Amino acid sequence: MRAFSCTFAMLWLLQLVLAEGEVDLVPMPRHLWDGSMHVKRDATTEAANISLTDHEEMRWTSPPEDPKPKIVSMVVWTGQDRLILDMAKFGFELKKVNCTENMMVQFRHNVSFQAAKKNWDWVNFNGMRSFVLIADHFLCGKDWSPDPWLISTVKFNQTDLTVKMEASKKTWKYISHAYTLDFGEQQMSRKRQGFLDFNLDRAFALDLSSKWPSKILNKTWTSGGAKATFDVSCVDCGTSGQLVFNGHIEGSAFGGIDKFAISATPNQLQAALNLQIGFDGVIKLKDAKDEFDLLTIPLPAGWRIPGVLTFGPNAKIKAGYSLDKIAGSATITTGVAAVIPDDSLARVDLFGKKSLDIHGWIPTFETQPLQLQAELSATGSLYTKVAVAVSLEVLDENGVNVDVNLAFPKLSITASGGYDANGFCNADPFGVSLDIDLGAELELTGWTEIDGDKNVLFEVDLFKKDDIFEFPPFCLGLGSDNPGSCSAVIDEEDAEWYNNEVDDPVTALARLRRIPLRRMLAQRRPVPRRSISAPPTPTLEKRARRSGYYMSCDSKKNYRIYMKDYNGPEHLASAYNANPTGAPIMLPGIDPCGDDDSMDCLKNAWTIEDSPGYTSVDKDYWDSEHVYEGDWVKSFLNYLYEKHFKAQTGDSCKTLGDIFFNAAGQYMDKLLTQLGTIATADKTMTVLTKKENQLKHRIFAPVKHIDRIAEKTTNPHIKLCRVARIAISCKYMMHQKVQAALLNTLTGYTIGGTQYPGIDGVFQQMDADTSIWADNIKPTNFTTWANEHKEWFKDMYELGIAKARAQLQDYAYFLVNVDDFDDLFDADTRKALEAFSVGDLEEYCKDTLSWT
Ligand SMILES: *[C@@H]1O[C@H](CO)[C@@H](O)[C@H](O)[C@H]1NC(C)=O
Ligand SMILES: *[C@@H]1O[C@H](CO)[C@@H](O)[C@H](O)[C@H]1NC(C)=O
Ligand SMILES: *[C@@H]1O[C@H](CO)[C@@H](O)[C@H](O)[C@H]1NC(C)=O
Ligand SMILES: *[C@@H]1O[C@H](CO)[C@@H](O)[C@H](O)[C@H]1NC(C)=O
Ligand SMILES: *[C@@H]1O[C@H](CO)[C@@H](O)[C@H](O)[C@H]1NC(C)=O
Ligand SMILES: *[C@@H]1O[C@H](CO)[C@@H](O)[C@H](O)[C@H]1NC(C)=O
Repeated sequence: MRAFSCTFAMLWLLQLVLAEGEVDLVPMPRHLWDGSMHVKRDATTEAANISLTDHEEMRWTSPPEDPKPKIVSMVVWTGQDRLILDMAKFGFELKKVNCTENMMVQFRHNVSFQAAKKNWDWVNFNGMRSFVLIADHFLCGKDWSPDPWLISTVKFNQTDLTVKMEASKKTWKYISHAYTLDFGEQQMSRKRQGFLDFNLDRAFALDLSSKWPSKILNKTWTSGGAKATFDVSCVDCGTSGQLVFNGHIEGSAFGGIDKFAISATPNQLQAALNLQIGFDGVIKLKDAKDEFDLLTIPLPAGWRIPGVLTFGPNAKIKAGYSLDKIAGSATITTGVAAVIPDDSLARVDLFGKKSLDIHGWIPTFETQPLQLQAELSATGSLYTKVAVAVSLEVLDENGVNVDVNLAFPKLSITASGGYDANGFCNADPFGVSLDIDLGAELELTGWTEIDGDKNVLFEVDLFKKDDIFEFPPFCLGLGSDNPGSCSAVIDEEDAEWYNNEVDDPVTALARLRRIPLRRMLAQRRPVPRRSISAPPTPTLEKRARRSGYYMSCDSKKNYRIYMKDYNGPEHLASAYNANPTGAPIMLPGIDPCGDDDSMDCLKNAWTIEDSPGYTSVDKDYWDSEHVYEGDWVKSFLNYLYEKHFKAQTGDSCKTLGDIFFNAAGQYMDKLLTQLGTIATADKTMTVLTKKENQLKHRIFAPVKHIDRIAEKTTNPHIKLCRVARIAISCKYMMHQKVQAALLNTLTGYTIGGTQYPGIDGVFQQMDADTSIWADNIKPTNFTTWANEHKEWFKDMYELGIAKARAQLQDYAYFLVNVDDFDDLFDADTRKALEAFSVGDLEEYCKDTLSWT
């Protein structure tokens, strides 16, 4: 007996070697699992159990070297007029067998033969009756095959105790009327196991341990001159633990599968990630998402019982992301460990009453503190996913696939940078906030393939929630001047201008202000929890409306200079791209980000060009630019007050106010109508990057230093970048399209059939309005409104350009005199800086105002 099983052990080994992909399970010797065979009996007086019955159980197991032996149990019912019997049940009582179409068994003892004769004669009653004899592989030797034989007649020979049968080989499917299949894993080791110790635990543990490559993702996008990268690395990342499956299937040959129950439970299933996520660039993305296989976990091969059951497990780690926008440059690092609790269970019973039984599956997270470098504005999500797929094929058909998708942890990242005069995070007006949630999406899908089409049998969300865990609100104040910042850094001095002319354009997009959202989320609990109801949807709060300008003398704020609505930069840019007679997109040669790398700021980047077709205008980095600024109107009024009205007796601020705001001519309204508005933008505005716009504003504003960073820094790389930006901003004013917009605002234009007189035209109307001086005293040395304005304007303009030239010269002089100047920049840049340093700025900063 020992030698025998050893032979088979070799055979099994051979099978394993030969089998490709799937391992064929082998019938498990009946005496190893059927307890009824171990009843002691006297073979001469007690018959073996040769009873034909209506159902029979068969078991298969994996070849001996499988460390985790599988067991499949199948019970087959044969239906009406058909019975069944496994030869192995009385194999010990047989002397000789012939497992062919002329099937023969010869008994050792008369008593068993007599019993068989009595019992099996049933089949001879008529042509309808038959029984299935499952040939025993120990006895049948080379004639053996694991298929069942159908017996239609039997003949008994009392002389030599033989039974001869007419038999034909059939498939399991043919002989089954109904069946059940259970499969699982044998929990006890084969070596120690006694005869009856088999324990069909009905479970398979799929080991999902994996170690991931450290580079998960490195994506680059380019669009219309813009470029962005998204880079994800993961150090010491991996999964561990198991997913334990078990299954129970019932079916019938004619009706297909009646019952299909499969369940999965996790066993110490966890993922550990030490993530480093890098964003860089400025780009808006459409459908930037992907999912890809990070690695395939080598699972023990699938197995099959030919003609009975095929089970093919397969597990993959997938990674995916979806991104809406990248703007800026940042590196986020954090560590996350996610564990799915062991008491989770998912059971799907396709046809059962309680068809789904799911509980648990809510991952718990352990996190390390977030770290953020630099500044960005980005939204997106990132996830890794363990996808376990199992396919089952029952009785040569009814292939069923079960996919288990475990996307955990799933990171949702929203990052935004911005400005808030009241402090973005704390005291700093400028900052970056990060909103990172951890969630999971776990699902179970069962499907069959019918003629190549996927037919979904069930689709179950085990668990789905994007914010099981929220990192505590993370906000980083960037102070008031940060050279590496991607957005413009707004000085206190510019806050009023920023509020009125930058921060409140009238696009829907612009109303979704970036700051308040963070604040509203700040009270969220950073603890894992499961809530049935959806979390409160944060409503995006609109920023306070622009506050308006007031004359310096108007301390009571009686006269509000309130700019008319205009569209945001994205709106203007898309209008321009649709029709290039609109407000031009003025694209500087230096990217909004990176003021600290002089390689990006060399002379070849000192350009600013009208760029129709540029599609990456983004409100975080671009502005709608009033070439003639609203605060110039305010400055002019201040100038008039100081020069002419202040000296008058009485409330001369009121005099000035009445003339512009209360006179029948509605002159302030008329003036502001000439500036960039929704109606006039095409003729009066441009689309300009925030940083350059701010510098342009400061060139003409009554502030000492155009650029504090340029003034303060001694780092030649940063200084060069800032010098280049001032030069670009000045060159912007020289651009023919900008000059055209300025001249339009000053002297008038026609748009949409409407004639606009321009600022100068309105002043001329005021000069023609004699009623102004009927009600108010005209200051002694006052000439005309138009003349006063023109004089003021030309002075202001000239002074601004002169200031820019002087400061550019200063900074260039500094750079030219740094010790290693010759090694720092390329020859062209050095030459240009040398020219700047001696006041030769004609190419970049020159008064080209053409208003005569
Ligand atoms: C013989 O086998 C049948 C079917 O498996 C069973 O119902 C019956 O109890 C058995 N008889 C004995 C004596 O073991
Ligand atoms: C078995 O049956 C075949 C024909 O089906 C026959 O040739 C052979 O002799 C038989 N062997 C025995 C041992 O009866
Ligand atoms: C076998 O048993 C039957 C019935 O009990 C009997 O008639 C027959 O003589 C026996 N044959 C032998 C060889 O013992
Ligand atoms: C029964 O078996 C004996 C011995 O092998 C044989 O001589 C006899 O012909 C057989 N009877 C029939 C009907 O086949
Ligand atoms: C990403 O890939 C690009 C080339 O495709 C390479 O130049 C860059 O260094 C990579 N980045 C990282 C962080 O690996
Ligand atoms: C008007 O101008 C004259 C000459 O420039 C000057 O002397 C006079 O003081 C000015 N008057 C006022 C009220 O400013």
